[in-house]
Amino acid sequence: MTLEAHAGVVPATAREPVLTLRGISKSFGAVQALTGVDMDILPGEVVGVVGDNGAGKSTLVKILAGVYPADSGEIRFQGKAVSIPSPAASRALGIATVFQDLALCDNLDVVSNLFLGREIGAFTLDEEQMEQRSWSLLRQLSAKIPSVRIAVASLSGGQRQTVAIARSLIGEPRVVILDEPTAALGVAQTAEVLNLIERLRERGLGVVLISHNMADVQAVADRVVVLRLGRNNGDFRVADVSYEDIIAAITGAADNAVTRRAHARTAEEGQLS
Ligand SMILES: Nc1ncnc2c1ncn2[C@@H]1O[C@H](COP(=O)(O)OP(=O)(O)OP(=O)(O)O)[C@@H](O)[C@H]1O
Ligand SMILES: [Mg+2]
Repeated sequence: MTLEAHAGVVPATAREPVLTLRGISKSFGAVQALTGVDMDILPGEVVGVVGDNGAGKSTLVKILAGVYPADSGEIRFQGKAVSIPSPAASRALGIATVFQDLALCDNLDVVSNLFLGREIGAFTLDEEQMEQRSWSLLRQLSAKIPSVRIAVASLSGGQRQTVAIARSLIGEPRVVILDEPTAALGVAQTAEVLNLIERLRERGLGVVLISHNMADVQAVADRVVVLRLGRNNGDFRVADVSYEDIIAAITGAADNAVTRRAHARTAEEGQLS
């Protein structure tokens, strides 16, 4: 075995998707929330998922987080077909989801929040070890947290988001899903969270970034997947697509550059396979 293979280093061209969705559909009674949605997430890639209100973004996140089962379709994780019947199953696979409400305990300090439900030590908590791991994790993320022993309630919005993201990494996931991580943040805090997302990519994680903010998506994502009325309506490399093209795909502006491009791409893929 070469040193490279041993270290798990894979050249970018040979990367296999860590997560693949094919034909995912989900309805709630008469409401068809998702219809035949496809998506691939590579390791070390940030994929922005955008779409108008009701496009199905949160429903997609909840299927991956094990909150709802899909009605039909296939989910593959690291090449294997999987089912995700519960949030515990999602975490056990290696999918970490940071929901918009963060679900932090305000009255507890940073360390307690990071290790909530996973306290180290057989019978007693090893506080020192947890504190050290907290610092090391936050350092790896270049996070700006003044102290790990202050209550989360006293942190800024960006710092709280950082703690929630750091907590999701404790279980050593392969994919991290962030639902609107910058929605409630100011300019400086948003920049901090975007930096954090870049750290996740450097660690080789696949990152799914749900966002209404096109500037954030264009700043940090490698690819953008557009959902419209519960269906795929575009999959673009961020470097190749303009703001106007993304907006047109979101709103469904008729026969435009986006849909033509999407059709050309589908045809091209059809020829290749
Ligand atoms: N639990 C539910 N019961 C019934 N309908 C639902 C449920 N969850 C979502 N829906 C419907 O499914 C569709 C997709 O909703 P979803 O929340 O996934 O959209 P979204 O893209 O996250 O929108 P937003 O940008 O407003 O958060 C909507 O029509 C919504 O009303
Ligand atoms: Mg939503």
